[in-house]
Amino acid sequence: MKSIFVSAALIAAADALIARDSTCCFHLTASGGPGGVVGQLSDGQNRIGQTSGLANGQGTYCIDSKGGLTDGNGRGCILTPPTTQFQCDVGASPTDGFSVSCDGALSYKGNTDFKACPTGDNGGYNIYTVAPAGQGGCVSITLGADNCKSGCPAPAPAPKTCPAALSGAYEYPHLIVPVDSKQPDKAFGTQYNGTVSNTVSSLFNFDIPSSDSGKTCSLVFLFPEQKNLETSSFDFSGAGGIDFAMLKGPASSGTTYNNKPGVATDYGVTKVAPGTSSVIATFPCPGNSAIGFSLSASDNTQFSYFQDYNPSPIGLYITVC
Ligand SMILES: *[C@@H]1O[C@H](CO)[C@@H](O)[C@H](O)[C@H]1NC(C)=O
Repeated sequence: MKSIFVSAALIAAADALIARDSTCCFHLTASGGPGGVVGQLSDGQNRIGQTSGLANGQGTYCIDSKGGLTDGNGRGCILTPPTTQFQCDVGASPTDGFSVSCDGALSYKGNTDFKACPTGDNGGYNIYTVAPAGQGGCVSITLGADNCKSGCPAPAPAPKTCPAALSGAYEYPHLIVPVDSKQPDKAFGTQYNGTVSNTVSSLFNFDIPSSDSGKTCSLVFLFPEQKNLETSSFDFSGAGGIDFAMLKGPASSGTTYNNKPGVATDYGVTKVAPGTSSVIATFPCPGNSAIGFSLSASDNTQFSYFQDYNPSPIGLYITVC
């Protein structure tokens, strides 16, 4: 008998723990009527607009899994019969059926419309779900919660990767400029070739149109075999390590090794070889902006190619999806 009693007490304790874990707490602010934060009198009546005499200038309300509210003093919040006044009473079981929508609006049984009626006490208004008969001066209000929002759509999925091929929408570079650490103040100006060597890096500008805003962009490097190139060619030697980086800004035709934009994000070394295509990085398309990237050799890679989107496309592109 005794052991059964203990088990029941343990189950009750576990239930209490679950109930407490499923609560979430918020403050309320009224729109309409006198507006402003919802405070409380010492007896747990919830008030808006009251300039003095509140025990608690801003009430805290915790909502449980059944939509019952308990205030910061542990009092159950009820809609007192027969007037439906919203107050939190010592020892009361909370009235179920409240919820907080994704935009923060508190509702009772799906209705976000509450009534505020003047009390004559320091400008304070009581809160009801239904304006009591014979009570003058009541106005419609809504109550906004600052937490515990529910029913919000799932967050946008993590960016997928756009194709490492020009099969869909894409952007091509509008400027390619090499810089050479052996000639650090020389501006080579716009080139058609991408070139990397022990001393030469190439900077690529892309102009992302505003129509790409909200889409996903993948920086891709396409490197077909020579036999698949119709209008391009390349010279390639070494192990094929290329360090790709996003720059802090775009290059210009006057860019030199010494004045080139700094690195914003270094994507590290990708091994390229004829017959490979690589997704270097994927990010939200920065619509309506010019962005710059740099390609630098590692492992004694020497590589020069004619950037070309004719079959098969070769070089650095941004695919959009
Ligand atoms: C561009 O690259 C191709 C292939 O390596 C090469 O034949 C050509 O001379 C280069 N052009 C320039 C201007 O560097």
